[in-house]
Amino acid sequence: MIKVLFVCLGNICRSPMAEYMFKSMVKKEGLENDFYIDSAGTSSEESGNSMHYGTKNKLDQMNIGYGNHLARKITKQDYEKFDYILCMEERNVINAERIVGGDFKNKIYRLLDFSDKPRDIADPWYTGNFDKTYEDISQGLQGFMKYLKKNVL
Ligand code: 4NP
Repeated sequence: MIKVLFVCLGNICRSPMAEYMFKSMVKKEGLENDFYIDSAGTSSEESGNSMHYGTKNKLDQMNIGYGNHLARKITKQDYEKFDYILCMEERNVINAERIVGGDFKNKIYRLLDFSDKPRDIADPWYTGNFDKTYEDISQGLQGFMKYLKKNVL
């Protein structure tokens, strides 16, 4: 079982979008029994809130199902539980490392470091561009899946 946690700042826009996109990808490939997938934020600002309507709209548009997501903040227990902690931008990496007490097991990455063009995923909370968020996450997930197939699965 490969356990993957997606991380952004608020856990209402980017990381839940990545969570449900990756769940959908894994299901399409018939690999759902090989994965446990969740998401969290580095801030408790939005804790208990549901996904941003921009994320829901985009997932609906792409026919990707989602559950009753409630935002939560990453914990030290998450660091023990998950194998891959995939962050949307560099400052999420820095904050996640601070919260869990350091990345001593080399589990924390930036999602787009698995793509051909390593970079941050801009925050649609500020840009309003959920299409771009979707495209960026899609590239990252494809790269991550390629990496897993080559090295882990
Ligand atoms: P996310 O977007 O990190 O992609 O979930 C944000 C959500 C909320 C806030 C910032 C970013 N906020 O400042 O409350």
